[in-house]
Amino acid sequence: MLTDTQRQKIIEFAKERVSENDSFHDIEHVMRAADATVLLSVAEHADQDICWTAAMLHDICKREQGDHAEAGAKLAEKFLLGIGMDKEFSARVRDAIHFHNKDFDSSAPLEQQVLWDSDKLYIATPDGFRKRLLPYWVMKKGRKEGIETAIYEYYFYKARFHTKTAVKEAARHSAEMERYLVALKSEE
Ligand SMILES: [Fe+2]
Ligand SMILES: [Fe+2]
Repeated sequence: MLTDTQRQKIIEFAKERVSENDSFHDIEHVMRAADATVLLSVAEHADQDICWTAAMLHDICKREQGDHAEAGAKLAEKFLLGIGMDKEFSARVRDAIHFHNKDFDSSAPLEQQVLWDSDKLYIATPDGFRKRLLPYWVMKKGRKEGIETAIYEYYFYKARFHTKTAVKEAARHSAEMERYLVALKSEE
């Protein structure tokens, strides 16, 4: 169980670490993912504190070269042990972060599934697609290729949500997303 002080320290550490990330992986993205874990962990009966902490810390090494999940997992574990979290809690957060950019099946720990889904849920909504996924890829690849990549990623993630709650949430936005993507493609 996290104390208020530990919670505060986690927020501060996340803010400090993500301040140099690109604007698509800033504190707003992190807080949104953390908020999503609250809904998902309650519905899925996962450990709320582990899921929330993993979301807060999942992109703390995003600005670095190499696998940011692997580096972030190690740094998060060290940080959590340093603020007095026990070994088991810290290791479970570490593992969830390690896998947040990797494939895994339904036998994976629940908090790992919740983190993966919470990180990507927003971009499967019209709002998230327009504000985050689309501009991110257009910035990286230019308009035409950026649009194609964003659309590809939308379907990629939508097909891979692990929890029933995330699948249901993405499905709720599906019809609107389809209309939007058809319109977007027709502009080309
Ligand atoms: Fe990430
Ligand atoms: Fe992320």
